[in-house]
Amino acid sequence: MSQLTIALTKGRILLETLPLLEAAGIAPLEDISKSRKLTFETTSPDVRLLILRGSDVPTYVEFGAADVGVSGKDTILEHGSTGFYEPLDLRIAKCRLMTAGIAGETLKPGRIRVATKYTNLAKQYYAEQGRQVDLIKLYGAMELAPILSLADEIVDIVDTGNTLKANGLEARDHIADISSRLIVNKASMKMKHQQIEALIDAISSAVNERA
Ligand code: PRP
Ligand code: MG
Repeated sequence: MSQLTIALTKGRILLETLPLLEAAGIAPLEDISKSRKLTFETTSPDVRLLILRGSDVPTYVEFGAADVGVSGKDTILEHGSTGFYEPLDLRIAKCRLMTAGIAGETLKPGRIRVATKYTNLAKQYYAEQGRQVDLIKLYGAMELAPILSLADEIVDIVDTGNTLKANGLEARDHIADISSRLIVNKASMKMKHQQIEALIDAISSAVNERA
């Protein structure tokens, strides 16, 4: 068996992915959330886990630094999804990608300013709508931008809607349904086919059992 490297990200995706990996016989040998380490050996001697920033997972998988990764569909769409395979929807970390603006306000006609960390996605979305936009790249707390007149709208993830509501904003257009996906390096899928196919099958069964 060759070494298999799986890229994960801390937080909700990690918490919801670990039980799925466990169903495939893969568990980290130490508590990832209590460690500052970035690589972890597992109960499966040929599998190791990497802990990355979420937006770096597609990059590691595309270049083959990781064979497999777990990444949000939002991150995949923003990265551009052609550099790897996406064989499985894990149906975890579900939310929606939406536009939002100040509650009760109607959007002015013509060119608008849009603040988001998803600049590629937003550019594509507004172009499809035939709307001209100036994009402002932010890295978090996007909900502040309309309040401080930095932007007319934001593009962001909405889960419960609590953050929008707490900041006087409303969700407007639904851009995409989001959940975490298993992604696989294209060369690894060929070179380590049996190993990866077995991993996909085990995780897929665990996902279906939970549904
Ligand atoms: C995320 C997202 C929204 C919020 C959505 O932000 O960017 O702001 O959660 O969740 P809700 O609909 O349940 O309120 P996060 O807390 O991760 O912070 P950040 O955007 O500053 O990174
Ligand atoms: Mg946020």
